[in-house]
Amino acid sequence: MTLLLGPFKQALTLRGLNQAGALSDKDLEIIPDAGVEVADGRIQAVKPYKECSGKKQECGGVVLPGFVDAHSHLCYGGDRAGDYALKLQGKSYHEISKMGGGILKTVNDTLSEQDLKKLLEERLNKLSRYGITTCEVKSGYGLSVESELSLLKTIKDVKSSVDVIPTCLAAHTCPLNYTPEDYIEELIHNFPRFKKLVNRLDIFADKGGFEIALAKLYLAEGKKAGFALTLHADQFTRGGALLAAEMGAVSADHLEVSETEDFLALKAANVVPVMLPGACLGLGIPFPKARLALDLGLPLAIASDTNPGSSPMGNLIAEASLLGIYEKLSNAELFSGLTFRGARALQLSDRGRLVQGMKAHFAIFDCNDYREIFYYQGSLHAKTLSFK
Ligand code: NIG
Ligand code: FE
Repeated sequence: MTLLLGPFKQALTLRGLNQAGALSDKDLEIIPDAGVEVADGRIQAVKPYKECSGKKQECGGVVLPGFVDAHSHLCYGGDRAGDYALKLQGKSYHEISKMGGGILKTVNDTLSEQDLKKLLEERLNKLSRYGITTCEVKSGYGLSVESELSLLKTIKDVKSSVDVIPTCLAAHTCPLNYTPEDYIEELIHNFPRFKKLVNRLDIFADKGGFEIALAKLYLAEGKKAGFALTLHADQFTRGGALLAAEMGAVSADHLEVSETEDFLALKAANVVPVMLPGACLGLGIPFPKARLALDLGLPLAIASDTNPGSSPMGNLIAEASLLGIYEKLSNAELFSGLTFRGARALQLSDRGRLVQGMKAHFAIFDCNDYREIFYYQGSLHAKTLSFK
């Protein structure tokens, strides 16, 4: 049976926009007074409402493809409000970790949390207000083979209207009782067990995480084991983006300190750059060079990095809007970063544009004009619709 959604004031389809590089708003396809026909969980047509048919489901406002958050750490216990208070007093991320905060504090809070699955479910259910219909979720707050496997099971088993893409980030930082070399070796040894649960492998290849040489060994073994690779790269020190390019990773995420050379290496190796403005806002550090990356021809994706430490805000629209106003990104570039380019960072080619055959995942905003969405800098909330 065909469903007819609408009449919408506008449908912003993102049809025809280039996969990579700078984009201009004049290339945006905007269909006024639009209807969307849906059947079997797929979009059948997006066109003027009066030309549509199907069983009516009334909706209004502005409709876009559901947003894809390609990088999050939503599976955690506790909070780091204490860390944030220290940041406000001028302490750095690394100083706070040495004072007993940081990732290891969240590992303790996560391991002592009684109902992690419920917490994760509640967090995923809140994402619809930001228009998110697909969300990547990393492990990383277990830091032992058994607890990382258990976090990945929780992430996979969670029930939510959001499509969840799990990623193994067992190599988030080195646990206290190990040398980095021994911990990495133990993780590699257990790759077959991880591979049964998850296809994506991440590592924090930076100060506070793992050295580049060790990350290289880990990723090379991960590739052999059949994982798609992604990295936390160039957040504090350079080297991770070049490693992502060398290893043929799917994406390189963060890139706060990346320069032209790093971006060109990512481009040549077809690695998607994912920028995480929420982590800059949470740490009080400058935004990555998003304008430069787009002008160099890269397919910039924008994601939330939501986590209790570096990126607590969780409002992806506010984060993208602020990156946009400081880095001078067009609406076309921002929406592409949250939709089909985000999907590409997760190797998903079936979503991210309102065109025939794509998954029927929608972000719907109660406004008259798509430009209001970033204009209100995150205070205009969305609703989502996802058809299976
Ligand atoms: O993406 N930098 C490493 N990992 C996270 C932060 C995790 C945390 O501080 O709990 C990030 O920023
Ligand atoms: Fe992250």
